[in-house]
Amino acid sequence: MDNYLIRGGKALKGQVHISGSKNASLPIMAATLMAADEVVLCGVPDLEDINVMSDVLRLLGAKVERENDVLIIDTRNANSIELPEYMSRKMRASNLVMGALLARYKRAAVAYPGGCAIGSRPMDLHLKGFRALGYNITEECGVMYGEAEKLGGQETLLDFPSVGATENIMMAAALTPGITTLRNAAREPEIIDLQNFLNRMGARIRGAGLDTIRIEGVSKLHGVEHTVIPDRIEAGTFMVAAAITHGDVMIDNIVLEHIQSLVAKLREIGVDISTNGSWVRVSGHQALHSADIKTMPYPGFPTDMQPQMMALMSTVPGTSIVVETIFENRFMHVHELRRMGAEIKIEGRVAIIKGREKLEGAAVEASDLRAGAALVLAGLRARGETRVGTLEHIDRGYDKLHCKLQKLGADIERRTAAGSR
Ligand code: UD1
Repeated sequence: MDNYLIRGGKALKGQVHISGSKNASLPIMAATLMAADEVVLCGVPDLEDINVMSDVLRLLGAKVERENDVLIIDTRNANSIELPEYMSRKMRASNLVMGALLARYKRAAVAYPGGCAIGSRPMDLHLKGFRALGYNITEECGVMYGEAEKLGGQETLLDFPSVGATENIMMAAALTPGITTLRNAAREPEIIDLQNFLNRMGARIRGAGLDTIRIEGVSKLHGVEHTVIPDRIEAGTFMVAAAITHGDVMIDNIVLEHIQSLVAKLREIGVDISTNGSWVRVSGHQALHSADIKTMPYPGFPTDMQPQMMALMSTVPGTSIVVETIFENRFMHVHELRRMGAEIKIEGRVAIIKGREKLEGAAVEASDLRAGAALVLAGLRARGETRVGTLEHIDRGYDKLHCKLQKLGADIERRTAAGSR
């Protein structure tokens, strides 16, 4: 089993390039099924979730080839409407093929993705949206079946602005006759990227990035070339890495507008952030101070940055309060941070953090993707050696994390059973 060995205490300095967005790439990859053509995707990050989605597409009959950060996906011979349980369980986001399959074949059978470490993650909002479009949806033995009944555009209101449900409904509606109006939609930048991709393929969608999206169904889509947006959560993780190590890091391929709430919070606690348009410079200081955070749907503070910020708040003087409103079980990193000396109390969905200057190196385990990132950040700051285990979670969502950190001067090695790399 691989682990990271980190010897903390080095201030990160230098330049880092941010990869393309995982959460933009995944729905766009699913959407390639809708074109029955060849699609070229540029800027796709090299990470495990992308490999899983590539395998999902292959299982459905597509040809997927990678050359560096370019994916060439040919869905002309795709012919299956079924995603079996062993595949859908590998990754929550595999459920995004359901909207694409319904769009192309008007039928789908997708095994339920199940829960995960951070919460139960139901599919009710996705299914409600498909029903509103006129699909008969049934659930049997862990499989969600969809079949066209009386298709037509509709008004649909999401009870909560779910990212995945917004994307799935947008995809299904793009090839459904009539006009669909999706209200209380999620507003994430990844949804705008999906809209741009679908429109380039010939769809007629307006409003992504706002809370009402209007989709005029078309009868056919075609292949295109598209470059995915930069990964705002990877960028945010490197911003926190600069802050927690009191470093000075220049970040490129970053869209500051996509992480305004994080930038505001980092500035509030005393981190210097400046930009010349294409670069963002982040400088940490000794004199950072505490702040409170509440995770919210975009443009609020992203739940995917909550664990990393908690690692930072553990090292700044004063008391910080973190409220997690998106996922019911997203404090798994707290137990591990405590092993490193962090003083954190949990009361329901609220964490109370008493910052202390020093963390101590320890052996810790990543319970999920962003929890793993938080532990790496804490390890970069801690005195002594930190071993972060269960790296498969980090591999799901970070493109060569330890290599990028090494280039910034971090003392971090990846150790495998066969040695380090
Ligand atoms: C996406 C992101 C994930 C991020 C999350 C919230 C991808 C691939 N993943 O996940 O990194 O943490 O947005 O920003 O883009 N919910 C329901 N019923 C549903 C759907 C969702 O109750 O049918 C609930 C979930 O349980 C959760 C909340 O809504 O509590 C947010 O989930 P959602 O926005 O759907 O997240 P994902 O799309 O799964």
